[in-house]
Amino acid sequence: MDKIVINGGTPLTGTVEISGAKNAALPVLFGTILTADRCVIENVPEILDVDLTLEILEKMGAKVRRDHTTVEIDTRDILPCRSPYELVSRMRGSTYLIGAELGRFKQAKVGMTGGCNFGIRPIDQHVKGFKALGATVDTRGGYVEAFADELVGCEVYFDKVSVGATVNVILASVFAKGTTVLESAAREPHIVDLANFLNACGANITGAGTDTIKIKGVEKLHGCTYAIIPDMIEAGTFMFAAAATGGNVKINNVIPKHLDSISAKLSEMGVYVEELDDAIIVRRDGDMKNINVKTRPYPGFPTDMQPQMTALLCFAKGDSKVIEGVWDNRFRYVEELRKTGAYIDVAGETAIIHGGAAELVGAPMRSVDLRAGAAMVIMGLAVNGRTEIVDIHTIERGYDNIVKKLRGLGADIRKVSF
Ligand code: EPZ
Repeated sequence: MDKIVINGGTPLTGTVEISGAKNAALPVLFGTILTADRCVIENVPEILDVDLTLEILEKMGAKVRRDHTTVEIDTRDILPCRSPYELVSRMRGSTYLIGAELGRFKQAKVGMTGGCNFGIRPIDQHVKGFKALGATVDTRGGYVEAFADELVGCEVYFDKVSVGATVNVILASVFAKGTTVLESAAREPHIVDLANFLNACGANITGAGTDTIKIKGVEKLHGCTYAIIPDMIEAGTFMFAAAATGGNVKINNVIPKHLDSISAKLSEMGVYVEELDDAIIVRRDGDMKNINVKTRPYPGFPTDMQPQMTALLCFAKGDSKVIEGVWDNRFRYVEELRKTGAYIDVAGETAIIHGGAAELVGAPMRSVDLRAGAAMVIMGLAVNGRTEIVDIHTIERGYDNIVKKLRGLGADIRKVSF
């Protein structure tokens, strides 16, 4: 077992390089199922969720070669309905197997997926899209089974903005006869990245990044070489760590536009943020102001930055409010942050952070999920004293070499086996 040990209180300084986006890499890697040609995917983050994705694809018959952040993948011999339940059920992103198998083979059988458990994670919008395309779907027995004699383009009006459902219906509709129109689609950069990858393989997708996406069915896809976009949530996490520690950090390999809502909130708190072409500088000299924030689908403030924001606001003087507008139970981690002396009240989807109420100190914490773990790291870096974080595999699911990157910024942080 490993844990992260931090001796906090050191302002972060220097430069850090951001890795490829987890939430873009997973749809693209599963999306390679749609072409029987070889694909080369570059800038793939070295994280546990990618390891698991490639393991699942190999177990299904794909040939995979990996050289650090470059993955060569050939799915010509892949067979549907073969994904191992014990692997698939560990990661929410495995859901994309359904759309990809259905799109290529007109049949799919995939175990119900797990991943971060903050509230219910239904797939009714995914199923709605599959059925609209003409598939029969059965979600009993711990599996999602879908099959169709023919997939026909249609209009899907999502009842809720869903990243996963948008990804899955795009994957399922690439070869459908005619045109599929998704209304109230998710607009996240990782949706755009998937569409760009599929179009590079010969698909015909327009409107990605807006709430209306059109997919004109094509006969087949060829292989391609494609580079994943930088991870906006990893970048935001380092931006908040710089602000929380009173540091001065240049964050390279970013697309500043993707960080607009994160940068805007830091500026509102009085933190200096400077945008360069493919980098961003964050510097905090004086006190931070308390603010209010509500998480929303992109381009709103991302829910995947909500725990990190709660941690940061513990160091702003005064009361701040964080409202979780996407998930119905994403404050479980607050119990862990309170061990530092942080004064945080939670009622339903709202947290009130009473910043500056007391001197916060290091504490032992358990990472309850990926972004909660990142929030605990930020806390440990900013408080004086020793913090230990266990269950760090949850952090390593989505952060590429986070300990090494933080040590490169001067943090006293290390991974220790116990
Ligand atoms: C993706 O999850 C991300 N995961 C999550 O990031 C992220 O929090 C989420 O999008 C929102 O941005 C991956 O990309 C692998 P949703 P997803 O479908 O697709 C409800 C991380 O930290 N909903 O957009 O599962 C749902 O309950 C992870 O990287 C339905 O009601 O999220 C939620 O309230 C954590 N019916 C809301 O929509 C459905 O059929 C948004 O969910 C689907 C979703």
